[in-house]
Amino acid sequence: MSRKRLAVLISGRGSNLQALIDAARAQDYPAEIALVVSNLANAPGLGLAEGAGIETEVIDHRAFGKGAAGKEAFEAALAAAVDARRIDYLCLAGFMRLLSAAFVGRFDGRILNIHPSLLPAFKGLNVHEAMLAAGVKVAGCTVHFVTAGMDEGPIIGQAAVAVLPNDTADALAQRILAEEHKLYPTCVKLLCEGRARLEGGRVIFETVSGAGPPLHNPRA
Ligand code: GAR
Repeated sequence: MSRKRLAVLISGRGSNLQALIDAARAQDYPAEIALVVSNLANAPGLGLAEGAGIETEVIDHRAFGKGAAGKEAFEAALAAAVDARRIDYLCLAGFMRLLSAAFVGRFDGRILNIHPSLLPAFKGLNVHEAMLAAGVKVAGCTVHFVTAGMDEGPIIGQAAVAVLPNDTADALAQRILAEEHKLYPTCVKLLCEGRARLEGGRVIFETVSGAGPPLHNPRA
């Protein structure tokens, strides 16, 4: 089976990128990372990619100017970088730019995102603080197909994390992040093996030998 070619898009730290790099080291993993793109030249994740011998490209959104025309030009550069490497799937991993409906439509069903909440609750930024402020008892993370809305789209997998008494946003974020690092490679694997696919706006799973979608139960 030929491995699917991934582009991982980052804006910062890159710990989810690292989790995908580690997973793809296994011979039987169905995907390889062919490109890492950052919209910020100083994203620490770029160093992780370089350390792993993966091609990187910085496409700084600010270089294309503001407004709709700037966004369109930025996305044209992004699409060109992806097309040039014959990429199968784009994995957003802490990529902090909202992609337009036109871009998402061009790569329909081929863009994934990870978000540190149980979507559709708690979209956007500062989600850990927001979850604690709301008093939720179960938090978690979600991998989903990207649609034009922010942190929106058909869900591939979720992992749940118990919120502890006296939790801080940092402590909660760390525990969720540990689940993110397992969930993202698992969901990418399902997709690249053809065991999860997008059909009519929903994710359909092939249930072989009892293997269902990657839902993890909360742990105290
Ligand atoms: C991760 O927690 C990811 O879920 C989140 O940004 C962090 C990136 O960390 N993404 C979003 O909030 C998307 N809306 P990383 O750079 O170490 O992977």
